[in-house]
Amino acid sequence: MKRDTGQNKDITDKWRLQTKLVRGGTYRSELGETSESMFMTSGYAYDCAEDAAARFEGEQDGYTYSRLRNPTCAMFEDRMALIEGAESARSTATGMAAMTSAMLSIVKAGDHVVSSKTLFGSCRVFIENILPKFGVASTLVDGDDNNAWKDAIQPNTTAIFLESPANPTLDVVDIQFVCDLAKENGVTVVVDNVFATPLLQKPMKYGADIVIYSSTKHIDGQGRCLGGCILTSEEIMEETILPYIRHTGPNLSPFNAWVMLKGMETMDLRIEKMCSNAAKVADGLIDMGVFASVNYPGRPEFRQHELAMKQMSAGGSVVTVFVPEGREQAFKFLNALEVTDISNNIGDAKSLMTHPASTTHKAVEESARLDMGITESMLRLSVGLEHVDDLLEDFARAARVAGL
Ligand SMILES: Cc1ncc(COP(=O)(O)O)c(C=O)c1O
Repeated sequence: MKRDTGQNKDITDKWRLQTKLVRGGTYRSELGETSESMFMTSGYAYDCAEDAAARFEGEQDGYTYSRLRNPTCAMFEDRMALIEGAESARSTATGMAAMTSAMLSIVKAGDHVVSSKTLFGSCRVFIENILPKFGVASTLVDGDDNNAWKDAIQPNTTAIFLESPANPTLDVVDIQFVCDLAKENGVTVVVDNVFATPLLQKPMKYGADIVIYSSTKHIDGQGRCLGGCILTSEEIMEETILPYIRHTGPNLSPFNAWVMLKGMETMDLRIEKMCSNAAKVADGLIDMGVFASVNYPGRPEFRQHELAMKQMSAGGSVVTVFVPEGREQAFKFLNALEVTDISNNIGDAKSLMTHPASTTHKAVEESARLDMGITESMLRLSVGLEHVDDLLEDFARAARVAGL
């Protein structure tokens, strides 16, 4: 149809990021709607039985069943692929569905996985406790120790999983090093790029084979819907991912895909503002001089600042702080907040703060938590779009109440 430019790769590939975020992947129906259509349908009707057979045979283009593909989800996937610079994308119901589907597509019983040890709680539980149930062993390494990555590779290693920056410590992995090592050993690298977002870091540029997102975070960006996405090459998608997800059904709802599409339209503006707010909040928290430590990858004293800034175009929207004492003081601080919410999500327009040891990482054993650096003193802050001064005044007041 006229001016349905969102589907024309010759045109969309040349667009700049902001145009891709607003228009990429858009499929316009014959009605010419300006906003993307929501195709809330599980199935599709065929003109005749021969057409149905031809579509299942792959001889005729078109949709067959929304577990296999849905037009609204396809718009979201095509837009994601365009901004990631990936050949192919598939959306999933949650970030965990994206992570587990990617990993389970790759591994089989008898294989071995290497992963950075600092991970979002559920990612760590999946690698450490769930994969072994299917005969897949793992070695967890300090993500910043390149020799440890090297030493952990075994003849049966088939996948590497990493988060950079990691949730919640913000530890950074040298993605180029790990991907080069993986290539030498024929290992597939899966990067969870949730904290960096597709706008700040492009793991495929360094050789990552698969990138996954929880679109629940910055992609929706307004705390409404769960979602996820798997991005990779055409070949890996066809040969490895699709044979798994077609038959297991971790799909995103078309409604949620539509919300994600709308979120992407404002993503560049939101992320730029969230990152600049986070940098100012980190400066302000340090200036308060009451925390045992304040960590933000964009700050020069952050222990992996140089590597973080080599891989990311900004410091991100998450800051972690450590109160001088333990859980009681951390809870007092949280309970005194009037602007920032006590909540365990990230990437929302609203600033959110959580105590990882008792929430996001509660399912991880205490010794493993401490090994990751997640102590009872740690608080993780996802900086939103409020005025920075209101956030900082709130933190200063909460610090006084908590006796910091
Ligand atoms: C780094 C990271 N990966 C994956 C996930 C899982 O995403 P979801 O909650 O959408 O399943 C999260 C969620 O907090 C996360 O922080």
